[in-house]
Amino acid sequence: MGGKISVAEPILGEKERENIEQVLESGRFLQGPFVASFEEAWADYVGTDHAVAMNSGTAAIQLTLNALGLEPGDEVVVPSLTFGSTATAVVHQGGVPVFADIERDIYTLDPADVERHISDRTRALLPVHLYGHPAEMDDLLELAEEYDLAVVEDAAQAHGARYRGDVVGSIGDAGCFSFYATKNITTGEGGVVTTDDAELAERLRLLRSHGMKSRDEHEMLGYNYRMSELNGALGVAQVERLPELNARRTRISERLRDELADVEWLRPATIREYVDHAYFWAPFEVQTDEIDMSGKEVWRELRAAGVETRHRYTKPLYEQPVFREHRGFNSEFPWSENEHEHEYDQSLPAVEAVAGNVIGLPNHPNLTDDEIDRVVETVRNFPEDYAVGR
Ligand SMILES: Cc1ncc(COP(=O)(O)O)c(C=O)c1O
Repeated sequence: MGGKISVAEPILGEKERENIEQVLESGRFLQGPFVASFEEAWADYVGTDHAVAMNSGTAAIQLTLNALGLEPGDEVVVPSLTFGSTATAVVHQGGVPVFADIERDIYTLDPADVERHISDRTRALLPVHLYGHPAEMDDLLELAEEYDLAVVEDAAQAHGARYRGDVVGSIGDAGCFSFYATKNITTGEGGVVTTDDAELAERLRLLRSHGMKSRDEHEMLGYNYRMSELNGALGVAQVERLPELNARRTRISERLRDELADVEWLRPATIREYVDHAYFWAPFEVQTDEIDMSGKEVWRELRAAGVETRHRYTKPLYEQPVFREHRGFNSEFPWSENEHEHEYDQSLPAVEAVAGNVIGLPNHPNLTDDEIDRVVETVRNFPEDYAVGR
């Protein structure tokens, strides 16, 4: 049968090793040539004038909101289905996240639900290109224009995705990427902000490095959010391979969609015809009425059958204790800075229908054709062939 098939793997090669060796030999760990080249290559790839590297995607979002001028108690509209740090980054910057619904078919921030969440305190929209599918950017940009809001793209899951031909991260005022170990490419840990705004980029460079313009001057309240040369060394090698790695991810994901198209209990996620999916995930929706199992049970049983899948996100963000209980800075700050209620006792229909029911099948470029065959076979024969240990 073979061993367990993993759902994600970092793909690292000789170049990465050589670059790391070079850093070790040089003894230079910060603000050196690898991070600078990585930034240049990433800006080039995304098609923006600037790219500013940081130590995580979460830091990238926080500092972007900071550099855009977010003040304590200001509101940012975020989707209800995403990794928690899209919204905790807002809180880190003293902002209040406001949760809107997702589009039922593509799982991203629903422009039709955003407008009623805009208030006199709203400063920005923070769409997430979830699982690799771009959010509906044209409608969101139109709303932003009408209400004078910034648009920050959370592109942490969408390296190389395109919306109507534009690479994500180049569409809003800024794009925030994560290079965490399981992403399409990785620097181990890392983040990058992309933007065409030279002043914004300059503020980000100050903010990530103690707010220091020179060795002797702290200009502003900065952080130590720099990317190290070790991470940059990986990044330089990884960016070069991204087109090839994404092409392989796409081939695998499309094959899974084709070969599993007639499985009744599993529906491939919708992909709008004018986008290029980055296939961070190969997302499928469990049809719980067809299989009489929850998404979590499917995830657990497939794993027992040797196929690891992704299974997130299992509840809307407005149900998470950190937001529901206003657990901010060991106090109610930043919610205390805002005059609106923010009780988060909402129930949004699309996110409630989707949460917990999406799984990602293995689609990383290291998979062999045999392993892909096994994924197809296991899913096609599931659950009949496998004892369901409930
Ligand atoms: C949608 C989304 N936003 C933000 C982040 C945060 O990135 P990082 O883990 O690099 O801080 C992640 C995940 O890692 C993510 O998936």
